[in-house]
Amino acid sequence: MSAGEQIGVRRLRSPDVFAQLDGLAAVLHDVVEGGASVSYMAPFSHAQAREAFEGFAAEVEQGRRLLLAAFAGDELVGTVQVILAAPPNQPHRGEIAKLLVRRSARRRGVAQLLMEHAEREALAEGKTLLVLDTVTGDGAECLYARIGWIKVGVIPGYALYPDGRPCDTTVFWKSL
Ligand SMILES: CC(C)(COP(=O)(O)OP(=O)(O)OC[C@H]1O[C@@H](n2cnc3c(N)ncnc32)[C@H](O)[C@@H]1OP(=O)(O)O)[C@@H](O)C(=O)NCCC(=O)NCCS
Repeated sequence: MSAGEQIGVRRLRSPDVFAQLDGLAAVLHDVVEGGASVSYMAPFSHAQAREAFEGFAAEVEQGRRLLLAAFAGDELVGTVQVILAAPPNQPHRGEIAKLLVRRSARRRGVAQLLMEHAEREALAEGKTLLVLDTVTGDGAECLYARIGWIKVGVIPGYALYPDGRPCDTTVFWKSL
């Protein structure tokens, strides 16, 4: 991705998710290689990343998740998901998951753009309350606070970095 290149964000319906599996997997692979705590442990291969997105694609097909991707030209540089499936007493609640931007495309507003689109799509699906959790002290925490998310608090030792070190998690919510 070159400086100043225009970013386009679009929602991927299930056939598009399957068509973009390699691009999505490449982003997840790059993010885990970069040491981010996003569910997966090192070593983490492209094939494992593809498998993860095959699972997400199945949930998109079932209407349980929505998935957005950011493109710089033809290159898929970032992605985010909204988990739509919720218990019967929380039909208005969604959860943001897997906000991922490849290292070469960072600090150019890609994540912020993805989140703006994700919030809009979630609202269009009838979601008026969103929640998420993220590693305490990492860049994403600054991003969410900047775009109006409310911090609930910190859960110590919630997860692990890919190399096995423990990390705390900060829980956020936003009313749409
Ligand atoms: C967190 C992440 C998604 C941010 O992606 P990005 O495209 O670089 O973010 P943006 O360019 O949209 O950032 C918008 C603003 O958020 C804040 N921000 C983003 N990354 C930051 C960082 N590393 N440190 C401090 N602030 C940061 C800044 O205020 C930034 O604005 P600025 O660049 O004008 O200062 C990306 O670093 C990433 O994929 N990290 C690994 C995976 C991860 O932690 N995902 C979140 C899981 S919930």
